[in-house]
This record gives sequence, C-alpha cells and structure tokens, in this order.
Amino acid sequence: MRDSEFEFIRTLVYERSRINLGADKRELVTARLGKRLRATRAPDIGAYCDLLRSAGAEEELGHLIDVISTNHTFFFRENVHFDFVRAQVVPEMLARGRAERWTRLHAWSAACSSGEEPYSLAITLAEALAGTGWSWRIEATDISRRILAKAAAGIYREETVGRLPPATLRQHFQRGSGPQAGNYRVRPELQATVSFRHLNLLEGEPPFTEPFHVILCRNVMIYFDRPTQEELVRRLTRRLVPGGYLLVGHSESLTGIRHSLQLVRPATYRRPPAS
Ligand SMILES: C[S@@+](CC[C@H](N)C(=O)[O-])C[C@H]1O[C@@H](n2cnc3c(N)ncnc32)[C@H](O)[C@@H]1O
Repeated sequence: MRDSEFEFIRTLVYERSRINLGADKRELVTARLGKRLRATRAPDIGAYCDLLRSAGAEEELGHLIDVISTNHTFFFRENVHFDFVRAQVVPEMLARGRAERWTRLHAWSAACSSGEEPYSLAITLAEALAGTGWSWRIEATDISRRILAKAAAGIYREETVGRLPPATLRQHFQRGSGPQAGNYRVRPELQATVSFRHLNLLEGEPPFTEPFHVILCRNVMIYFDRPTQEELVRRLTRRLVPGGYLLVGHSESLTGIRHSLQLVRPATYRRPPAS
C-alpha cells in the first residue's frame, strides 16, 4: 500500500469511527482490505480508494469499518467483572431499589461485538436476580452492522459456548439439530432481555432515555487516541445513574485521562453517588 493510500484509509477510518490506526497497523490494514478488494472487484488498493471517494460510497464505508474493527470477544471475558456485577452491583442496586421503589436494572454493553458480552451479562443478571421479582434490560450497541446481525441472531458454534458450565448451557441455550447441529442458540426468554442497535459511540446522542446502573465498555477504548478516550468516558459518565458503575477492559485503565469517576478496583469505576 502506498503512503498516500494508507493515509487516506487511516483518515477515513478515524473520521468515521475514531479508531486510531498507527503506522504499525499498516500490514494489518492491507491484509484486511483484501476481503473488500475481492468483494468490490477493485483491482488494487488505489482503485478501492477511488471507490471510497466516489458518490454513493456510504455502504462501502460501512464495510470498511467492519473489516478494520477488531471484533474479538468471548463469553465471560474478564470474568471478574461478571463476579463484581453479581456480588456488588446487584445487591447494591436491590437495596437502592427497595428504598427508592424501583425494580428494574438497566445495563449497557457499549461495544458488544458478536453478543457474547451482553449475553454473559444477561446470564449473570438472570442468576443474580432469580427469585427477587426484579427484571432487567440490557442495551447492546456496536458500530459494525455485520457483527450486530450475528449478535442479534444469538447462534454460536459449540466451540464458542463449550467452556460454559453445562448447567448454564442447558438453561440458557438450545442445542441445534439437523442443519443446525453443532450450533447453540440463546433461549428466547434470555434473548428478549437484550436489545441490539447500531451506534457509533462517538457520534450524536445515544437514543436512550433511561440512565444505566452499569455500563460495560470494554476492549474498545484501546483503539482510540487519548482525546477520544476522554470524550468517550465523558459521554458514558453522563449516561450513568449517580452511583452507577462503568466497567472497562483491564488493559484500559483511565489513568492519565481526565474524568469525574471514582476508581473502585482495577478497570471498575463509579460515578460519585452525589453527582
Ligand atoms: C474487541 S471488540 C470488544 C467486544 C467486547 N466488549 C469485549 O470486551 O469482549 C471491540 C468492538 O468495538 C466496536 N467499535 C469500534 N469502534 C466503535 C465505535 N466508534 N462505536 C461503537 N463501537 C465501536 C467494534 O466494532 C468491535 O465490535
């Protein structure tokens, strides 16, 4: 890839998603663009850049972000966060809810990729809230429409769900048969507690009216530069109830960025209760 082509792609991706592609990502970008070159029949990267510059390139821009963004995820990734939700967030919110007379927990998986994160959260809440009479609602968002379609389908290969405890698997997934053999599908009653929608975390205002008791925004900030991280944390903080929690990836400490949150434990922050 020529310098000017890399610069063009880098700028476009930054403008669209704020993903910050450093010079070290050049090889990776070249490899990932291969897929789009084949799909669009562009003979080389130069021709593909021309395509992106042309009128009506909007759809292709979506595909570009799709191939550039890293969607790696898995069930109960960074499990300490789910333990924390079970052991601290839920009991605390139950106590608040009893005092303030509300009975619904509201959570956001802010870069949900293929759905493993919000479904892990749904399983955690289903277990932690069982027998309390409480309900929960999880909003799950991502910038990639392709990955969201996978998340909303809720169908996973055996290798993906294989490490879940057998009882969890039986309770929350249906095993496929016939053409679906080797697949597991999230049970509809669990799936109904999660809403998926397309959202660029750094563009416009998220369409949520209610604030969240807990937000998971994990393993996405690492792709952003410092000012973008700061802006994102500010945007997320505004969406938390006072005393609500923000969970970030363990490689994404907020050290060095300006924010108004309290550090509770590694990768776990809280909006001050009186704010
Ligand atoms: C590595 S995955 C993390 C998935 C999950 N949160 C986890 O920790 O396993 C990062 C996700 O962030 C999404 N993403 C990247 N930039 C985004 C943006 N500006 N707005 C919303 N989502 C974005 C990508 O599409 C990708 O699915």
